[in-house]
Amino acid sequence: MERVRCAVVGMGIGKAQGRALARNPRAAVTALCDLDVPRMEELRAELPEPVKLYTDYHALAAGPEIDAIFVGTPNQLHVPVALAAVRAGKHVLCTKPLSDSETAARELVREAEAAGVVNMMSLSMRYDGRVQYLGGMTRRGDLGEIYYLRSRSVRRSGIPDWGAHFIRAGGGAFRDMGVHALDMAWWIAGCPEPVSVTGVAGAKFGPRGQGYWEYRSVTPELAAQYAADDYGAGLVRFANGAAIQIESFWASHQADEFQMEVFGTEGGAKLDPLTLYRTIEGRPADTVVRAPKQDGFDGVAEHFIACILDGAECQAPLRHGLTVQRMLEGVLESAATGREVALGVGR
Ligand SMILES: NC(=O)c1ccc[n+]([C@@H]2O[C@H](COP(=O)([O-])OP(=O)(O)OC[C@H]3O[C@@H](n4cnc5c(N)ncnc54)[C@H](O)[C@@H]3O)[C@@H](O)[C@H]2O)c1
Repeated sequence: MERVRCAVVGMGIGKAQGRALARNPRAAVTALCDLDVPRMEELRAELPEPVKLYTDYHALAAGPEIDAIFVGTPNQLHVPVALAAVRAGKHVLCTKPLSDSETAARELVREAEAAGVVNMMSLSMRYDGRVQYLGGMTRRGDLGEIYYLRSRSVRRSGIPDWGAHFIRAGGGAFRDMGVHALDMAWWIAGCPEPVSVTGVAGAKFGPRGQGYWEYRSVTPELAAQYAADDYGAGLVRFANGAAIQIESFWASHQADEFQMEVFGTEGGAKLDPLTLYRTIEGRPADTVVRAPKQDGFDGVAEHFIACILDGAECQAPLRHGLTVQRMLEGVLESAATGREVALGVGR
């Protein structure tokens, strides 16, 4: 196989990931799938080669012109679409979060691994140049032992209003942006085993028709469908003694911020602007690093293709998505029960 023939399902984020796959010289986008044909036509017009359009993801999964499928549908449909892909023997690349529940996520990982296909999470923040830079440092041990991280996505007025799926059950702020903040911190920490989580969550703006994307007004009918969190926060403990403090707000009376701080025994770091905090000769030696430029979706595409064509070991398998799902569902469960949640497998 010289080039991987890729299909893209879901024309929202699928456009960004599809363009990145099409930019990769070792991949081609050969098929698109969505219920909305005009949305597919828009992406097709940008692509350099002939593209087949589908409205049924089961038919797409059976398509002989396809080696790999990117899943970019609403959260509630990630597992059904990805399962159809792996059952048809296609490699699968799934957007975040892996699923809308831990049980469904677990079933998908079991089947994908048994099928022997490449199965990878599309994590645009983990593959951001700054996060990759910090992950390289922590893997080399440059910051010593990583024992604590703070990671957060805070929006002033940023509840997505372009799809009711975001605010229905299985959506929510924590599964949307908390997952990015949690995944990148967990990956930088070296993917330790989570043991327990305590959290709070709720919906303070969305059900009241407030806090939507760029202060836009929404209809009372949309706001009435609100059945998810618009904020969530928690503390995850790991088997190695480390912890991550995590916060995700779709709306708040606070400044917009996407930030992470890393605490290591030999140095610390901050994501934005990318800053290293070290002590040299007993003095603070702090450096702002010129952030390496890498679009996250290009990084994802490059690694996915390398896993398929070169047999590279996948650095972001669906199994990672499952672990992050366990942690984030744990935050929501802890918020609902008012208790700390143990994260043993199969709980
Ligand atoms: N940085 C990132 O990685 C990133 C950014 C944004 C969104 N996302 C993820 O992408 C997913 C979708 O979010 P979005 O903003 O693109 O939403 P969206 O509403 O803009 O797009 C979803 C698309 O899926 C299509 N769709 C729905 N049901 C379908 C079906 N049965 N078959 C085929 N297509 C179907 C819809 O018609 C729509 O075009 C979410 O899970 C979200 O978390 C990831």
